[in-house]
Amino acid sequence: MGKIWAGRTDGTVNKIADDFNSSISFDSRMYKEDIKGSMAHAAMLSAKNIISKEDAELIIDGLADILNDIESGKLRIDFSAEDIHTFVEQTLTDRIGDIGKKLHTARSRNDQVALDLRLYLNNETQEVKDKLTNLISAICGKAEEYKSAVMPGYTHLQRAQPITFGHHLMAYSMMLLRDIDRLNDAKRRLSVSPIGSCALAGTTYDTDREFEAQKLGLNEVALNSIDGVSDRDFCIELCSALSLVMAHLSRFSEEIVLWSSWEFKFVELSDDFTTGSSIMPQKKNPDMAELVRGKTGRVYGDLMALLTMLKGLPLAYNKDMQEDKESIFDAFDTVKICLDVFIGMIGSITANADNMLKAAKGGFINATDLADYLTKKGMPFRTAYKISGEIVSFCIKENKTLDELTLKEYNSFSKTFENDLYDAIDLFTCVNARKSLGGTCVQSVEKQIEYVREKIKG
Ligand code: ARG
Repeated sequence: MGKIWAGRTDGTVNKIADDFNSSISFDSRMYKEDIKGSMAHAAMLSAKNIISKEDAELIIDGLADILNDIESGKLRIDFSAEDIHTFVEQTLTDRIGDIGKKLHTARSRNDQVALDLRLYLNNETQEVKDKLTNLISAICGKAEEYKSAVMPGYTHLQRAQPITFGHHLMAYSMMLLRDIDRLNDAKRRLSVSPIGSCALAGTTYDTDREFEAQKLGLNEVALNSIDGVSDRDFCIELCSALSLVMAHLSRFSEEIVLWSSWEFKFVELSDDFTTGSSIMPQKKNPDMAELVRGKTGRVYGDLMALLTMLKGLPLAYNKDMQEDKESIFDAFDTVKICLDVFIGMIGSITANADNMLKAAKGGFINATDLADYLTKKGMPFRTAYKISGEIVSFCIKENKTLDELTLKEYNSFSKTFENDLYDAIDLFTCVNARKSLGGTCVQSVEKQIEYVREKIKG
């Protein structure tokens, strides 16, 4: 395709330079947004009598045909064009003649690309939000199923206190809810129309920017034309929100890898979401979780690329900004596929409640409750803590768990112990005694599930 900007030069460019400059291989995915933006622009030009009604109709119909033909496969995007904006405009002119050349009145590719990207990312953001909602819903389902399955809770990856698997799972729901909230917040700033900023300084035509914004469903217009074409903050903040989504999925992945190992045996992944080894017949590998963990680095890399691209750029448009697209598209593509995998993987995961309980019984994770037992009988906590520690040490020496010691043995440490201590250190009692707001007892987990489900409904 010839260059739309041929004039000052004859438009011929060195082949390597031309390929280097071209963005159509990655911006062609914005064809729909480009066409919709152009339709709104033509409608505005006509409403303001900048072009005639008849010309606008021809242009809008021509654009609608191009859209239909791309979608139906009748029109193939020509990858020799410089970018998607050029391709659409040139195809229009090829089809309807010189009237097509009126479309670019009172705009520039600088505001056009900023608009297309905002419209495209708005849809992508909605898709990620929907997927997050589905994942949260899958997590709530599993949390409900395992709301009373006792497992050890960890700090420093050392068994710490008894919790339920449902409670642990719901922690991830909370993180993902915040991710949705962050995307909603970024969406608000995404909904600003840069079109009409033109190259950088606005235009001499009597345009109506609000009209165009409204037609495109955008809530506001950029109030400074230089900022309108220079701003890529929205890419960075979206990528930052996506990085956090990946951080959460990566932590979850790490736990799934651990839990599904023979050392833990807390969960079993469905065959659909595991792979075998080419040499070791016994293997069932959690590749999906590992890949999600691995792909987190890509999205962080995308964020770093975007931040670095923008840093030090003078106002207004610079070609460096063409680099925004591959990074932000990659971040969205990666997050979307990871969420799809996660939704399936979590939906089909099964927990081994017996093994979790066995692990919970092994690590003296009711030692805090033993100290609390003494404290509730009037002993100062520090003293109770010390006695409980001595009892744990005794158990380790004797290779016993806390519930295996006799009352006589307990009384050799403190006369305060009575028969009711066994109930106090029972793991189910320990879990269900943690009734504090947000705690691990079954009712609290139920409340969390109810809260989260209500949140994702709206
Ligand atoms: N392909 C370009 C980009 O993605 C479009 C804007 C071109 N503007 C220009 N002044 N060369 O940034």
